[in-house]
Amino acid sequence: MCGIVGYIGKNNAVPVVIQGLQRLEYRGYDSCGIAMMHPEIMNLEKVTGKVSELQSQLAQQKTSSPVAIGHTRWATHGPPTFQNAHPHTSQDGKVAVVHNGIIENYKSLKDGLESSGYVFSSETDTEVIAALISKAYHGNLEEAVREALSHVVGAYGLAIIHQDEPEKIVCTRKGAPLIMAVGDDEFFVASDVAAILHYSKDVIYLGNEEIGILTPSGVTTYSETDEPVDKKIHKITFNLEEIEKGGYEHFMLKEIFSQPQTIYDAMRGRLQPETGTAFLGGIDHMIGSLLHADQRYFTACGTSWHAGLIGEMMFEQFARLPCEVEYASEFRYREPLVDAKSVVFAISQSGETADTLAAIQEAKNREATVLGICNVVGSSIARETEAGVYIHAGPEIGVASTKAFTSQVTVLSLLTLKLARLMGMSKEDGLEISQAMQQLPENVEWVLKQADQIAEIAKLYADASNFLYLGRGVNFPVALEGALKLKEISYIHAEGYPAAEMKHGPIALIDKSMPIVAIAPQDRTYDKILSNIEEVKARHGRVIALATEGDTRIKEIADHVLYVPPALSFTAPILNVIPLQLLSYYVAVERGCNVDQPRNLAKSVTVE
Ligand code: M6R
Repeated sequence: MCGIVGYIGKNNAVPVVIQGLQRLEYRGYDSCGIAMMHPEIMNLEKVTGKVSELQSQLAQQKTSSPVAIGHTRWATHGPPTFQNAHPHTSQDGKVAVVHNGIIENYKSLKDGLESSGYVFSSETDTEVIAALISKAYHGNLEEAVREALSHVVGAYGLAIIHQDEPEKIVCTRKGAPLIMAVGDDEFFVASDVAAILHYSKDVIYLGNEEIGILTPSGVTTYSETDEPVDKKIHKITFNLEEIEKGGYEHFMLKEIFSQPQTIYDAMRGRLQPETGTAFLGGIDHMIGSLLHADQRYFTACGTSWHAGLIGEMMFEQFARLPCEVEYASEFRYREPLVDAKSVVFAISQSGETADTLAAIQEAKNREATVLGICNVVGSSIARETEAGVYIHAGPEIGVASTKAFTSQVTVLSLLTLKLARLMGMSKEDGLEISQAMQQLPENVEWVLKQADQIAEIAKLYADASNFLYLGRGVNFPVALEGALKLKEISYIHAEGYPAAEMKHGPIALIDKSMPIVAIAPQDRTYDKILSNIEEVKARHGRVIALATEGDTRIKEIADHVLYVPPALSFTAPILNVIPLQLLSYYVAVERGCNVDQPRNLAKSVTVE
């Protein structure tokens, strides 16, 4: 969603904040702005559009300032206009606020302020915060922030400056991410470490409702009850190069091609090929609870939810442990049968998804054991769960999730293997699965070699208006994921279906303009899927089939065939999703779409 960056220190804050915003632009990107503090006056610049436009605007003015806060916006309240862009100021122009999140009671707060004569200039919920802080200000910004936020219901990550205290940034969070970082006589606040990594790897994670105060001489933190807190400094271990494109045209392509390595990293030190099992240090002490739970749930959103569907199928098929998958956004509203005997797994790349965090809270309220499968180390979900497993995929910048998905499924496969062996899977079967998992990076490499062929096929279908993705068993979630990838980045309407469901409705859509992607590896449903393909062909649909290397039969009926190496159903989803990621990528490129920053989307959805 929105990105926040703030700087105070010995250097000019402006280029630091601009560079930070550029690194956060993948999170939200419809407008941006910066508030700069000079001893006597506060300066504001905003644009609708990209950070590069803001940068050129500032370059013309040669602005320099030791203190600044900036923001890149993903609109929630009000369209992406100049007026609605952050920072938002108070009516007297003295308070400037950048905000990520949603103030749920902003309307009643706004009405109250308006009735006492306050005039608002934007449609945003954020401006209400600036107004409340201004009203509560009596010479101490952090006290005013605390007082103002006592009236607020909702989620926020905030950085605030006040003209009367020019050497201070106050920041706080509730439900939205925010970190502070310590440099050499310079201090930072950001919604994501990526924004400040160039300057500092020493990061302080701000807890919910804690207040951080940045001055030129240091950083101090106060607890939610206003006690001073001695916060630990965490060392970030990933490098800047990991969040750069490395010669690829887009982050998404780089991330797709990094999967042999990221899948290997997810397994490293965990897969035990000599004994045919796995060891997941972060949740090893929870394995007993998982085995003996009355019910197990996966809860997640989007692509992570698709990983959860695969996890469910694997848990049930191989470990014979019943399991449910819930959209995190539905979980808390549908009175789930979760109690102290349930184990709930939250799956999330960013670890900041508001719906998933709300589902975790719901599960905790019901006294369930809550575990996490996350990518971002130190993220809110990682901190809110009792224990968990990191997928170690490294920073994922492309809005469309690719490498995080395959790493999530890799971790779920390891977990399934561990549980299945404990539930009676033979050592022989465990060894066979471990061997197949060990071969995954090499097999993914093999699939990636077909990128050029996939790019050619993409050219033929880039003008389609609809796509249908069909798959069975564990390949049904893969079909859903393929369809989601396509619609996210190319804006082509796409749907995933269990292949046999086609005849119960979607078949009505098929004509010569409808491309069908059929996932048809040589497994136990192969013959049935071939029949589905025949049914499509009989109605002049065009078929792109995903088949097992060496399958010549399918070549006779499908229009195009993409091959994957032979795989066990355990490893099949990981291999099968790769050509679908590439297909959506090349279709989107062909259509001239902004692949890494598709319209209306945000990398981490930090509002409910
Ligand atoms: O960070 P999370 O995994 O919690 O994010 C969940 C979804 O928002 C995310 O997977 C989204 O669907 C992606 N854009 C998919 O590519």
